[in-house]
Amino acid sequence: MVRALGPDLAYGSPAMYGVTATVLSSRRMIAYNLAQNAIDEAKGAARIQMIADKYADGDLFKKMHRHVGEELKHSKLFKDLVPATGYETRDDPVEPAATEDVLDFDDELRAFICRVHSIELRSWTVLRMYQHVLRQRAFPDISDTALPVLDDIMQDEINHVVYTGQQIDEWLRDDPGLQPVFDQCLEHTNRETWQDIAAMTAWLAKNYQAVLANDEANPAAVNLPETRFLVGELAPPATLT
Ligand SMILES: [Fe+2]
Ligand SMILES: [Fe+2]
Repeated sequence: MVRALGPDLAYGSPAMYGVTATVLSSRRMIAYNLAQNAIDEAKGAARIQMIADKYADGDLFKKMHRHVGEELKHSKLFKDLVPATGYETRDDPVEPAATEDVLDFDDELRAFICRVHSIELRSWTVLRMYQHVLRQRAFPDISDTALPVLDDIMQDEINHVVYTGQQIDEWLRDDPGLQPVFDQCLEHTNRETWQDIAAMTAWLAKNYQAVLANDEANPAAVNLPETRFLVGELAPPATLT
């Protein structure tokens, strides 16, 4: 069985923390990242709603609908944080094809919840990294605005991990045959996260200088202490538990 929170998993690794800390070291990249999170939260909400309406009933249906509301709330909260960075978001019209892409999948309920659980574990872990980095207060104004909001989001993410985990546990007791499906979901999210890290690093390789140099409001970013990105010093103490 795959360990959901082992240090060998991409989202708990020093690489993930290093990329996250780098992204959060520039106002412009923070703004970009908040906007991206706002989009991802809304996509997640749409997917959960679709599967809940199609397959779930009773208590699980209610929990999934509550989950949808919370992810939509996160989407708005992340978007509302963007102005704290000094940047603004633009509301471009959404292409209908983009909406179709988001909903173009068909999982059965159990596999979907396994997948959601693995993604919620990642959200929870990455959110802890955000909190850790923002507590270092490279931009005190952003930290003051963002940290209370992230605390609020964190409460929900913990609930998402818990209810999906409890549901999977219940199903596994009835049908151990679900185990390989669950393992595959963890492996898939893990692989996908390594790919995300690779993509972010490739982007940074091209844009790092430009992004930081143009970030005039951010003298701290240009003087990043190099040692902060050495592996031994990377991991926030409590991130992987
Ligand atoms: Fe969320
Ligand atoms: Fe969540």
